[in-house]
Amino acid sequence: MTSHASEADIVSPSSSTLLNIVTQFAADLGAMTDLLTLGNRIIHELCHAGATTHGVLFLLDREHECYRRASMVGPVAPALIPPTLDMSHPLPLHLLGTNRIMTQTDSAADIQDHDSGVDTRAAMESMQVTRVVPHLNKGRLIAFSLLGAAQPLAGEIAPNKLLLAALAQTATNALDTIMLYEDLHRSHMLMKRTDRLKSLETIAGGFAHEIRNPLTSIKTFIQLAPERKDDSQFIQEFSKVVLDDVYRIERLIQEILDYARYMEPKLTEEDFNDIVVSCLYFIDVKADSYGIKIEKELASDLPRVMLDRQQIKQVLLNLLLNAMDSMAKAGGRLRVHTHKLVKPGGNVWAHIEIEDTGEGIQETNLEHIFDPFFTTKHESGEHEGTGLGLTIVHQIIQEHHGEIRVKSSVGVGTTFFVSLPALPA
Ligand SMILES: Nc1ncnc2c1ncn2[C@@H]1O[C@H](COP(=O)(O)OP(=O)(O)OP(=O)(O)O)[C@@H](O)[C@H]1O
Ligand SMILES: [Mg+2]
Repeated sequence: MTSHASEADIVSPSSSTLLNIVTQFAADLGAMTDLLTLGNRIIHELCHAGATTHGVLFLLDREHECYRRASMVGPVAPALIPPTLDMSHPLPLHLLGTNRIMTQTDSAADIQDHDSGVDTRAAMESMQVTRVVPHLNKGRLIAFSLLGAAQPLAGEIAPNKLLLAALAQTATNALDTIMLYEDLHRSHMLMKRTDRLKSLETIAGGFAHEIRNPLTSIKTFIQLAPERKDDSQFIQEFSKVVLDDVYRIERLIQEILDYARYMEPKLTEEDFNDIVVSCLYFIDVKADSYGIKIEKELASDLPRVMLDRQQIKQVLLNLLLNAMDSMAKAGGRLRVHTHKLVKPGGNVWAHIEIEDTGEGIQETNLEHIFDPFFTTKHESGEHEGTGLGLTIVHQIIQEHHGEIRVKSSVGVGTTFFVSLPALPA
């Protein structure tokens, strides 16, 4: 049980002490980036300045149009403090109307000036708090704090309404910034999801179109098989075609699943060169058999990058395999070059160039290569493309806040440029 200190024991703060407390508090809050830590810090400091052992912070939940109990300090009985309060509850309404710290001892006349005052006092009593502090910004009550009875301890500063008000205002500014930031982040996520849904719509349409041909061939085979069952050449040739068609459908399904699965990258700090080397290892044998010479130049000062290793491997492999396909007929040179990139503003990026001396991309095709199902590998070459490779590449790079560009010239070759920020934005 806390004993009450005598008046003489309690330190009356000088104005420079008060200024120091507020300045330090503002600096601390400015460094915080999430609402929960911020809320905890605020209610702790307000309790301290209000010389009380317990307090609760309620935050505006705009989505559900209520105030939500966010951070609690000390011996608060959760049963007494409801988890949410309606926006029409007398307590927030009163704070919105007065924009002043209200104490239980506020004069009866003051309370009667506002209809909601009496109900507010009753609510404070039932929640066992003696002070309520509004956090009002631009006419909007974004939060409020409830504080228990003041019990100043010896050596501590005396509860000071002015200090409390200054801290509350500082807290309000910090809360407003972070809530705004979280709103922005939410709408950004929403936009990304909408983008993804839009492209899934395209993909669904494309998929239907893509599997129509193989399905027709499978259907024809099944229809003809009973009457041609003794024609062994027909059965042998057609069943090979049908099997290829089934593989193609399987591959399409797999790629679509890869794409559709929501892939929030799992970022770990990685050595980018290391991933490049492991991808080159995969294609080494195939390159040899195509008569492709691989040249790698890996920068020794490459910054470490936060990335999803699996996803970035998938990006590099897709790009390397495309480069190999372009040189499958005539062989050539595949140059893989990494280097450190310092952007204007000083941000550091890891950059890779994958350059081939293959057949190149026609200018009219260049703007479509990232579109789902755009492929020129329908009939030519040793494998049929799905046209989803670069769509996935683009998606992954976007999710990593990176950049991808391409430069190509028919008959000369193609270079893909990929950059990833060393620390994602
Ligand atoms: N390095 C390259 N050289 C020449 N053309 C390229 C290169 N990279 C991509 N392309 C062109 O872009 C098209 C789309 O590439 P993408 O990787 O999306 O699909 P794909 O390679 O055709 O199919 P899949 O990736 O399923 O094998 C290719 O069909 C090809 O025309
Ligand atoms: Mg490809």
